[in-house]
Amino acid sequence: MTVNIKVFNDINQLYEEVASYYVEKINQNPNICLGLATGSTPIMLYQKLIMAYKDQKISFKQVRTFNLDEYIGLHQNHKQSYYTFMKEQLFKHIDIQDDHTFIPRGDMNDDIKAIKTYQNLLDKNKIDIQLLGIGANGHIGFNEPGTDFESKTHVVKLAAKTRSDNARLFNHLDEVPTHAITMGIKEIMGAKEIIVIAVGQNKKDAVYEMIYGDININLPASILQKHPNVSIYLDEAAASKFQKGE
Ligand code: F6R
Repeated sequence: MTVNIKVFNDINQLYEEVASYYVEKINQNPNICLGLATGSTPIMLYQKLIMAYKDQKISFKQVRTFNLDEYIGLHQNHKQSYYTFMKEQLFKHIDIQDDHTFIPRGDMNDDIKAIKTYQNLLDKNKIDIQLLGIGANGHIGFNEPGTDFESKTHVVKLAAKTRSDNARLFNHLDEVPTHAITMGIKEIMGAKEIIVIAVGQNKKDAVYEMIYGDININLPASILQKHPNVSIYLDEAAASKFQKGE
């Protein structure tokens, strides 16, 4: 296991460092295959990558992206779909080609077809760098506690904690979808390199268990201890459990 942990007291500095790393990697390999995430955590990274593009430091023309997950039952153009999130937070601001961006489909009324399509895509495309946030319950992608480490793309029932955490983005908890389609843990672990970002106090327990806990399916992120190339970027709040023993 090679885990590289970096803790920042300045969040801007954290994202600056991650963004510079992506700029370097994209320039080294313009055909790079990126695994992307949604949620609050990557937003500042995407903003910095948009700035780098506007400053002509990078081009996404040949980059391909594969997102981790999507809600089941929301139309692609729904305000809270991850399709809309990616378009608004990143894709519409850069020169990426539409047909180079892949997000599992949650709106097909045919989950088996959506699963098979995404599994096939991931079988054919090796992800160079997979970006991950972490759920307060230790989920990665939408692989909730209890998910088999051998899982490939599948449909999941969202944990009550995940739905309530995400309810902030909807008018009411009842509107939060109950299911999602997610890249499986085996596919995430298949990436050549993984970058995890966690910020905020509510992540400190999950972060601690991810790094120091027993590897077990009840804390999905703990499997990352077995990956050969993981970098974990934390702010002080997310690192507080192992830094100060809080
Ligand atoms: C998002 C995803 C999730 C989030 C996690 C953290 O595509 O797969 O695992 O990374 O729920 O969410 P935020 O960043 O909103 O705290």
